[in-house]
Amino acid sequence: MGALLSLFPPGSDVDADGMLRVGGCRADALAGEFGTPVMVVAEQALRARAREYTSELAARWRRSRVAFASKAFPCTAVQRVMVEEGLGLDVAGGGEIVTALAAGADPALLVLHGNAKSDEEIAMVAEHGLGLVAVDNADDVDRLEATRRRHDVIVRVIPNVEAATHAHVLTGHEGSKFGLAPAAAAELIERIEASPRLRMRGLHVHVGSQILDVEPFAQSVAPVAALGEFDVYDLGGGLGARYTYDDRPPSVGEYLDALVGAAREHLPPGAELIIEPGRSMVASAAATIYRVVTVKRGKITFVAVDGGMGDNLEVALFDQRFEAGIADRLDSGDGELVTLVGRHCESGDVLVDGVRLDAPRVGDLVAVPATGAYCHTMANNYNGNRRIPVVFAQEGAARLVVRRETWDDLLARDVY
Ligand SMILES: Cc1ncc(COP(=O)(O)O)c(C=O)c1O
Repeated sequence: MGALLSLFPPGSDVDADGMLRVGGCRADALAGEFGTPVMVVAEQALRARAREYTSELAARWRRSRVAFASKAFPCTAVQRVMVEEGLGLDVAGGGEIVTALAAGADPALLVLHGNAKSDEEIAMVAEHGLGLVAVDNADDVDRLEATRRRHDVIVRVIPNVEAATHAHVLTGHEGSKFGLAPAAAAELIERIEASPRLRMRGLHVHVGSQILDVEPFAQSVAPVAALGEFDVYDLGGGLGARYTYDDRPPSVGEYLDALVGAAREHLPPGAELIIEPGRSMVASAAATIYRVVTVKRGKITFVAVDGGMGDNLEVALFDQRFEAGIADRLDSGDGELVTLVGRHCESGDVLVDGVRLDAPRVGDLVAVPATGAYCHTMANNYNGNRRIPVVFAQEGAARLVVRRETWDDLLARDVY
């Protein structure tokens, strides 16, 4: 049980009868109050991680800022926690600008990313006065200049670093759709420096996601430094999270030792350093609780729950492995080896392929830890799925921060 419990948000424990508690709230009480599936976020764990990031970075580099990569969990409540903890926000697109502003973010602390920013999004930059735009291509420059406003920009550079992670979440390699190879970046920098409206503030690099080794981060700094001295270096996000018993992601301190170590070697000491953690900031702060709908025993035992790829696309998108347990019998010991599947009409709708559960039966609650990153944001309406609620739990009190969709929500956009 200890091993599985250690994957749940820090502070999680089990009640006297064995029921999982997250943020002091029992899984059965959460299911009773909010229904299933439900995503529960341990608010204290979320805040603690944000503080860990800001203090560890500040201790290593004086002029520095942590900008939470909103895309990992772009709901107002999560962005508000980051704002309250003094972080900036990385926003990828107009929707994340909208939720960031609703969360009370200072527009000056927003960094806009995206490889295909629309006219509308560039207009939002001008309207709200966003702090930085990460230029990804020459069309971004055309659009920014067309607003006839002044903008601070950084240029995204491909460092040609290939980290050991799934191809679908790799971004720093030659041939990436994001950013510019150094020679093309140098040309665009010249153009920006000559622009009367744009202020060339610095460079940006991001090598990918779910990276469990610090080396690629350190390696990404020199190629950026080779493009010249600037005032701002945004070194991206990408640190991996712990999903499985075997995952051993570097600590924030180890990651920053490597990254800031490379910055000390290659970057001007007075420059501002920005980092943009997403996954590693939020993954471990949340868990999803499902209800078992059917158990089908045969050559393979399929335990099917009332959610699946409608609330967790990480498995289908990049084969991410999760672990799972029955909420009041986490200690599966030598329990039954099952395939935990969802309710959607795809054979790829698998939550965990091969996991031991203790005598699973219809009606049991199944808890999947480490669902805080990219699950809420990629939730979808496949098979008429009503996207699931998000609940913050703290010291035994639960509060709804995103409600479950309704049947009416599903009909709301259809025009009769
Ligand atoms: C530009 C940029 N910054 C930061 C991140 C956050 O990455 P992660 O969630 O892996 O920390 C991403 C994610 O892909 C990104 O594209």
